[in-house]
Amino acid sequence: MILGAGQAPGKVILFGEHAVVYGRPALAVPISQVAANAQVESGAPGSGLIIEAIDLAHCFTLAQAPDGDPLAAAVHLALAHLGLEAPDWRLTVHSTIPIASGLGSGAAVSAAIMRALAHAAGQELLPETLSALVYEVEVLYHGTPSGVDNTVIAHGRPVYFVRGHAPQVFPIGRPFRLAIADSGIGSLTKVTVGDVRLGWQRSPERFEKLFDDIGQIVEAARAAIASGEPDRLGPLMDANHELLVEMGVSCPQLDRLVAAARSAGAGGAKLSGGGRGGNMIALVSAETAGPVAEALREAGAVRVIVTPVGEYGRGPTLIHQPGR
Ligand code: PMV
Repeated sequence: MILGAGQAPGKVILFGEHAVVYGRPALAVPISQVAANAQVESGAPGSGLIIEAIDLAHCFTLAQAPDGDPLAAAVHLALAHLGLEAPDWRLTVHSTIPIASGLGSGAAVSAAIMRALAHAAGQELLPETLSALVYEVEVLYHGTPSGVDNTVIAHGRPVYFVRGHAPQVFPIGRPFRLAIADSGIGSLTKVTVGDVRLGWQRSPERFEKLFDDIGQIVEAARAAIASGEPDRLGPLMDANHELLVEMGVSCPQLDRLVAAARSAGAGGAKLSGGGRGGNMIALVSAETAGPVAEALREAGAVRVIVTPVGEYGRGPTLIHQPGR
């Protein structure tokens, strides 16, 4: 018998990557086309809590979880918060969020698990509480997480983030669509972050100006999203991309994807995340989504996700989030 279910979306950085390391703001948004799902069923008496990670073909009891397993960590934290000893439950977890690609897969899996367990226990997990619990798992596995992923994913809202300050959730005035394309090139964020630091040390004035310009773009984008004018995001994405190119964190393949998206009718496009590989994003409409996705694949994207941003009210994501 199914006792509870939970879902959580992925996330993508919309504006402000790299400059955010230097105190400027950044924006990240939830993406609902990819999601983590968890389900709790009743288990056999005495079975304990069984965790089954479907994508990894991995199944174990909580009592015998591998050392340092992040799913078990999420379960332990949730059970402690809910005031439960491990019940005889079977928890299954499945995610369509690509892993290790800046789309928030780890935080989403934790959030889905916690929502499913709370649902099964007949308890409510408010977004703030869920965000804090997911952050605890992130701290265990990512050292010093910024707090963006857990906030975006737990609230299912855009987040405005300034380093050293609590992330601020804000509403989306009107939904919009993004195409997210993976360049297929592996790139370590810490390498591009290190190179930007070298550039900044050599030419502080030039880099400070780039960061300031990006900061202004982020402010304009936040206003456009909140006031329901997403069309204004396209030119802002183009401008942000050019500044990232000047910063030296793009690469020919990302530039090719950005150009292909624009030629196929996207309102604007930019790299997203660390750069020199990884993902890019393009602003699309219902009409341009298909042609843009096709153009991105032709230009070498290994995966294209077209996703609405800001369409709420579907699926179990909302189960424990009253007031929406
Ligand atoms: O690698 P991602 O997609 O999680 O994004 C990194 C964002 C940077 O601003 C480049 C680095 C950071 O720590 O904020």
